[in-house]
Amino acid sequence: MKILIIHGPNLNLLGTRETGIYGSKSIDEINNSLNGLAKELGVEIAIKQSNHEGEIVDMIQKSKNYRAIVINPAAYTHTSIAIRDAITAVNIPAVEVHLSNIHQREEFRQKSLIAPVAAGQVSGFGPESYMLGLRAAVSIANAKKEAV
Ligand code: DQA
Repeated sequence: MKILIIHGPNLNLLGTRETGIYGSKSIDEINNSLNGLAKELGVEIAIKQSNHEGEIVDMIQKSKNYRAIVINPAAYTHTSIAIRDAITAVNIPAVEVHLSNIHQREEFRQKSLIAPVAAGQVSGFGPESYMLGLRAAVSIANAKKEAV
């Protein structure tokens, strides 16, 4: 089983960016933990990062060989109808993840355009949000397989 993990804009700066909010772990450290968990769960993962909305749309459109997507759309969470439409178009379950608890933050961050089309949202557990998101993605993909 293959799962696609997408990091959105500015997440390449993790570890130095607003560490009080996003923590001190770099994206490479998070990706290492994800690779370790994937091994443990017996799944294959591909991890991508982009600062560009259209590139993220392309990644989602090309995700047909994946059974689920784990995505931190970062700032595009709050603005991107294009990413939302891409998720709906491919019909692959997507788990939305956030390091911070977006519901405790500024009003503009409390609204997610992605959440209504996501299988679910994990928000507020720091890097652990990604691990929980991957576990959820695997479990949803397995459940979908059984239902077929
Ligand atoms: C974020 C929350 C977003 O509001 C913000 O724009 C980010 C990161 C998070 O992981 O907490 O870049 O998605």
